Amino acid sequence: MSVTDSTLKGKYPAKAHCQRVAKYLTDRGHARDGIIYLEAQKTYMEEDCDQEKHFRQRRYFFYLSGCKLPEAYLSYNIPEDKLILYIPPVDPESVIWAGLPESKEEALERYDVDEVLYTNEVNATLAHFGSKTASRTVYAIPEQVSEHITFLEFDTKELGILREAIDECRVVKDSYEVALIRRANEISTIAHIAAQKAARTATNEEQIYGAFTGACISNGAHEQAYHAITATGHSCATLHYIRNDRPLQNRLNVLLDAGAEYDLYASDITRTFPLSGTFTPESQTIYDIVKEMQESCFDMLHAGMRWEDVHENAHKVAVKGLLKAGILKKDYSEEELFEKRVTVTFMPHGLGHYLGMDTHDTGGHANYDDPDPMFKYLRVRGTVPAGAVITVEPGIYFCRFIIDPVLEDPEKAKYIDKEVLDRYWDVGGVRIEDDVLIKEKSDGGWENLTDTPKL
Ligand code: GLY
Ligand code: MN
Repeated sequence: MSVTDSTLKGKYPAKAHCQRVAKYLTDRGHARDGIIYLEAQKTYMEEDCDQEKHFRQRRYFFYLSGCKLPEAYLSYNIPEDKLILYIPPVDPESVIWAGLPESKEEALERYDVDEVLYTNEVNATLAHFGSKTASRTVYAIPEQVSEHITFLEFDTKELGILREAIDECRVVKDSYEVALIRRANEISTIAHIAAQKAARTATNEEQIYGAFTGACISNGAHEQAYHAITATGHSCATLHYIRNDRPLQNRLNVLLDAGAEYDLYASDITRTFPLSGTFTPESQTIYDIVKEMQESCFDMLHAGMRWEDVHENAHKVAVKGLLKAGILKKDYSEEELFEKRVTVTFMPHGLGHYLGMDTHDTGGHANYDDPDPMFKYLRVRGTVPAGAVITVEPGIYFCRFIIDPVLEDPEKAKYIDKEVLDRYWDVGGVRIEDDVLIKEKSDGGWENLTDTPKL
């Protein structure tokens, strides 16, 4: 049995997450005599038919319960260190259609909680907590408290800190969470290989897309972490391309950015490969630059590094590569090309983002108002701690929408050799993306969780 298998045989560590969040609160001077209260997502009906909307569990609720059920609640009594899960009681009407729901006994067995009650017991239980002198504050998330829930017995309703506390705690993953991300990566690797195989005979992006999602489902991942980007030809330059329905005639490359979700944890993997089996010289040139960007950034990874430094490094490698390719003019120094942010035209996005229950996971502190275009879309700012999982996803794109206006501006156009550039439009774009666990320097600094083959 693999380490991942044996880790995942245990329960999702909800209780440890509660303790971590409680520590975050009390370390910041918040009351120790508190209750954390959270609700699962509800099921909603489609507006115009009798079908339920696709259900996506609330990440805050899952983090502190490990429970995927809709319409459930939880309370965590901080001083007593007691986690109670409230699950929906049996509704005979719905049993006819949906089968028997989880029983209290099954839930207690499955989840890392101290007690399971039914949701119709929640108000009485909260009132009991609130009336006891030991538990006078309730922590909750605004807009995530049902109307019928009463916090009447509590002295203080603290609605301003719990979301932040969970967002920040989620940055550092424990071994169970890493195992879930590993499993999501393992399944995605099988699916990427299936998609690359399907591309050999595909006539439309749909067959590549279908091969990927089909392989995820048949290997145990029923959800995608995000809408798979199955781009070919010039569409490879559209960062979040989602049409996935174009015929493949006259297209050189496939950019497949796709990742399975496994028990709510994401993978996020991009591979770019030639449809014919062999890159054209221009595609190979760009592929080699992007691969060098990624490898050079890997070398910098360790707990405590500044993500801005790694992102800058990717741009510096891009400057060198695009100069060598002749797309940037050799009349200008590498320093000037970097300072003038010329490579932002070719890689407008950030080097990577935290990965966890959300594909763009919490706690990154992006500054989308940053006036410096090199950092505007960098989704992680500052230092990265051990235990964070982060994507390393450099790319170079030939996007007319971005590059044409640059070519119209003499101050920026002077750096670019338009004649050389014209040979590169059909490359579309290249991105290579892996998911990396950050470790202490003494422990090697990083581990690549993605073993999807690379060209
Ligand atoms: N995989 C899409 C993204 O990282 O934005
Ligand atoms: Mn990504």
